[in-house]
Amino acid sequence: MFVDVWNTLALSCWREAVPEVPMHIAITMDGNGRWAQKRGKPRLHGHRAGAETAKTIVLAAPDMGVSHLTLFAFSTENWKRPNVEVHGIFRLLEEFFTRELDTLASHGIQVGVIGDRRGLPGFVQSVIVRSEEITRSGRKMLVNIALNYGGRWDIVHAVQAIAADVQAGRIGPRDITEEAVESRLSTAGQPDPDLLIRTGGEQRISNFLLWQSAYSEMYVTPVLWPDFTPEHLKAALLEFQSRHRRFGALGPMGEGGDNC
Ligand code: IPE
Ligand code: IPE
Ligand code: MG
Repeated sequence: MFVDVWNTLALSCWREAVPEVPMHIAITMDGNGRWAQKRGKPRLHGHRAGAETAKTIVLAAPDMGVSHLTLFAFSTENWKRPNVEVHGIFRLLEEFFTRELDTLASHGIQVGVIGDRRGLPGFVQSVIVRSEEITRSGRKMLVNIALNYGGRWDIVHAVQAIAADVQAGRIGPRDITEEAVESRLSTAGQPDPDLLIRTGGEQRISNFLLWQSAYSEMYVTPVLWPDFTPEHLKAALLEFQSRHRRFGALGPMGEGGDNC
């Protein structure tokens, strides 16, 4: 009898721990500046290396079962940096998209941009439109590039859209549900991120996906973004697979902690 109970417990713990690859991974690509400074180079040198890492990770992720990848490239707060860095980042993005679009499209990658694109320079807006058009039919993985993105901006933007619908009489106050907000966010229709990775070691959100990450698992690595490799991504996925997500409920044996 004792053995039976033990076997049941072991089986249920095993079931919960069965490897499961997250559908949506979001990455705060931090540490470019420190990577460059360590080498005595200007910060933009780090951003250039970071763009190469982004390409490598985007191409490696679909084979690990990732269907959605969100990359935090420029936040609504990054405008506080010196002009030369901000402008340099935008020029790098333009160069990167122009050079890599065909490769991304041939790998079945669909590119989308989330963020306040109207606040971006015209040449960035043009390359975004081109990237979205050229990669539109990609079905292997969707990459959201978060550009001039802030979690607060995303929520405010959704609330403005709701207010407009209420004002026009299309919906009433009672129609303002979680689904109503979600469907007006920049990630509408996409699964919430299962795993939020932050490179560079800082243990903070920095205004990324505030609504969408309500139940995301967090993984912080000290590895600076230009040094991040597909092997590091694999390590993050393995760690994710060992987590026990409960979404506020209890585990199968009624436990609230990691008892397995
Ligand atoms: C992240 O790297 C990239 C952007 C914010 C554009 P950082 O530039 O923040 O690098 P660190 O944190 O200063 O090392
Ligand atoms: C977060 O990194 C934004 C991006 C990676 C694009 P930051 O370097 O801007 O974040 P803080 O300033 O350390 O919080
Ligand atoms: Mg940083």
